[in-house]
Amino acid sequence: MIGDKKVLFSGMQATGNLTLGNYLGALQNWVKLSDEYECFYSVVDLHSITVRQDPAELRKRARMLLTLYIAAGLDPEKNCIYYQSHVSGHAELAWILNCFTYMGELNRMTQFKDKAAKHADNINAGLFTYPVLMAADILLYQADVVPVGIDQMQHLEITRDIAQRFNGIYGDVFTIPEAYVGKSGAKIMSLQNPEKKMSKSDENPNASIYLMDDPDTIIRKFKRAVTDSMAQIVYSNEQPGVKNLLDIYCACTGKTPDEAVREFDGKGYGDLKLAVGESVVSVLRPLQERYADLSKDKAYIDGIIKENAEKANYYATKTLRKVQKKVGFPERIR
Ligand code: TRP
Repeated sequence: MIGDKKVLFSGMQATGNLTLGNYLGALQNWVKLSDEYECFYSVVDLHSITVRQDPAELRKRARMLLTLYIAAGLDPEKNCIYYQSHVSGHAELAWILNCFTYMGELNRMTQFKDKAAKHADNINAGLFTYPVLMAADILLYQADVVPVGIDQMQHLEITRDIAQRFNGIYGDVFTIPEAYVGKSGAKIMSLQNPEKKMSKSDENPNASIYLMDDPDTIIRKFKRAVTDSMAQIVYSNEQPGVKNLLDIYCACTGKTPDEAVREFDGKGYGDLKLAVGESVVSVLRPLQERYADLSKDKAYIDGIIKENAEKANYYATKTLRKVQKKVGFPERIR
């Protein structure tokens, strides 16, 4: 708890172009949660270097992502929006937690197996201990809740296991975090293969809507979206392409699937695609405008980066000192 509020932690990597899926599935949800919780939203650049990055590109994207958090509606006065690499406690706690995590546990992580297969020429130790760093992120702020997608659930489970193991030895040091489920964000699928999640690393640019796509590009991609030959607009798992379009429409307009289906009664896929495209344009346009304004104001963003890193450091250090004492490191002499 910070004051009378529960603590929420989440983070995103600044690699690849953020997609509509990232926005509707995560960011938009973060904004909704930001009144209820004391929130820490990190740009997790330490995680990014588990895969080889171009340094200039990583720096540029990290700043874009941090600016996007704000453009999406997260108030940086209320939410702690910061770079993970600006708070050394993440790495320090990760080291300690490494010593309380078993090889066997990490070996079971499906994301490690996937990424190791994808980057067979660079299976580094950081990739292996990635979940421990993630546990450190969460535990450092004594987070109560962590909004994560299904693909990160296993990492949240291991975080809980590590925290419980540590508490079992040293007493109540860490808050045991819960996944934030509840009214979760929409799960947005690829426009080219509606069985697959929309992903920022998809090779086919038509599969994803990027947050910075201009209106013409957005409409064009929706016109090309894969549907089916059933020629009926219903909300059903039998028609994943149409269902995905309806999900996007609902997430952008606030309508329910029933309302949307009624609205498109008697209409064709062409009409549906156009309407969905327009609803997305009307959500992304203001976001892009805010982003453009914010990126012009270098001093403002710099100020946010500095102040929030200090705030994050304050809470991180509190936890870290406690942990260091528990494991037996000597007291600092002041
Ligand atoms: N691993 C997460 C992802 O790739 C990002 C992340 C890092 C994260 N640390 C976190 C998410 C802590 C939630 C909590 O999506």
